[in-house]
Amino acid sequence: MSFHLRGPRQWCVALALGVVGVGAWNSSAAAQQKEHAARASKVEYEGWRQYMTNCARCHGDDAVGGVMAPDLRASITKGAINQASFESVVSAGRPGKGMPPFKGSLNKEQIAAIYAYVDARAKGRLPAGRPSCPSSHHSRMNMRTVLKHPPPSFFAP
Ligand code: HEC
Repeated sequence: MSFHLRGPRQWCVALALGVVGVGAWNSSAAAQQKEHAARASKVEYEGWRQYMTNCARCHGDDAVGGVMAPDLRASITKGAINQASFESVVSAGRPGKGMPPFKGSLNKEQIAAIYAYVDARAKGRLPAGRPSCPSSHHSRMNMRTVLKHPPPSFFAP
């Protein structure tokens, strides 16, 4: 008799563990959804790329300021610059003060995109680091992501 009960009981335990596992999976999916809410817009993502290529060496990674150039987040929050003056400083530079002109290498859209990125950093909407790319939504839900950020019970016995 006890021999007969063993099987189903083990199945119950396995099923219960499975339910716990699925629950944890769901909550981690919910956390990922939240992360998506802070995702960069296409313009901000392009702005980040241009910022890293053209500005970060002086103004610092993640727009936090560098050794010789100011923190552009602070320039915005303190009201030292707005979108219009930002764009004209970037375009014309400040010759003699170490800020090179970019009108020959960046077009208006690229400069506006950089402003959008720095503004999002200034408002705290985008965290430091590479922003979540707006178009890679699905490719992020792959096995590598799961193994890097496993749900708590993923590796549980
Ligand atoms: C070679 C170093 C260097 C690079 C590259 C550089 N900057 Fe600057 N930038 C400076 C310096 C130095 C200043 C401060 C000039 C001054 O004292 O008025 C400055 C000032 C500025 C200001 C004015 C800030 C304020 O508070 O008045 C803006 C806006 C700005 N930079 C944006 C950018 C952007 C955007 C890029 C990339 C496209 C960039 N800079 C690339 C060195 C640099």
